[in-house]
Amino acid sequence: EHSTQLPTSGVPQDTEPSMVGKSVVTLDDLTTSQIVDLLHKAQYIETHRHEVAHTCDGRVLATLFYEPSTRTRLSFETAMLRLGGHVIGFAGAQLSSVTKGESIADTVKTVSNLVDVIAMRHPKEGAALVAARAAKDFGIPVINAGDGGHMHPTQTLADLATITSRYGRITGLTIGLCGDLTFGRTVHSLVETLCRFGNVNFVLISPDELKMPRYVIDRIKRAPSCTYTEVRDLAAVIGDLDVLYMTRVQKERFFNEDDYLRLRDTYILDEAKLQRAKPDMAVLHPLPRVNEISVDVDHDPRAAYFEQVHNGMLMRMALESSVVGDTLPGYEEWKNQ
Ligand code: CP
Repeated sequence: EHSTQLPTSGVPQDTEPSMVGKSVVTLDDLTTSQIVDLLHKAQYIETHRHEVAHTCDGRVLATLFYEPSTRTRLSFETAMLRLGGHVIGFAGAQLSSVTKGESIADTVKTVSNLVDVIAMRHPKEGAALVAARAAKDFGIPVINAGDGGHMHPTQTLADLATITSRYGRITGLTIGLCGDLTFGRTVHSLVETLCRFGNVNFVLISPDELKMPRYVIDRIKRAPSCTYTEVRDLAAVIGDLDVLYMTRVQKERFFNEDDYLRLRDTYILDEAKLQRAKPDMAVLHPLPRVNEISVDVDHDPRAAYFEQVHNGMLMRMALESSVVGDTLPGYEEWKNQ
């Protein structure tokens, strides 16, 4: 069951740097082999829930969420609870000493004295890097749970697990990314990581105002055997796609409400539009959705967005146990079978 055709970087496992104590601001903080190992760990966890239930006994996770979240915070927390650990934190900075003017660095240095691992979401790009640097002196890993419009690495882990579960691989696919490609941090993280593996055909579908940032396009240009096209019309390309990754127009990152109102309903995927798609195309969305996927798509077997939520929890279990240095009982034997 774990013989998924995931590429490896070619680096033997025993020469891999350790993930213990490792902060993850972007997935560039992990080697390609480490990402593949997390995917295998998630597959193991899925089928060995009982065996892993005490992996992180006595550990404490802090979730420091300065910005709203449903899935990410709850799945970080559930992941630690399902591994036997505990959770503290805040789900809004208004109840913390941030309201008294405390800096991110001081908050993180304080929390680093209390817990084993920190997951942090913040509206400002770069906040996760500041936190990771502040926690480094204490040997505490910080996992970026989303920093502004920049990156969302654990969402990407969920996305990779979902693509793998649908296709058995993450390369050799045509992947359409649709909607707000400017402010959507999940698509930035996903493209960055898929480029590491190479051999992906990206179709970037957006209005002119919400195109993929230049630095992400440059990344695709440097990636081995990756191609990209930029288009506006989803219907014209949907039949070519193996994966369609829909995104919400990120209202909270717009400077101008009129622009948001004009652009928010540019793409609405419904069953009628799906008629043109391949029968096995996977529809992904990081959620929350607003209007961009009609609820009538939820019952279509191609809808994979609630699977992403489940996979996100498994991947966070894999990541949390790895960075705190707790071995999943039975995993090494299972992997080497
Ligand atoms: N996908 C995602 O990050 O969802 P939340 O904002 O609800 O955490």
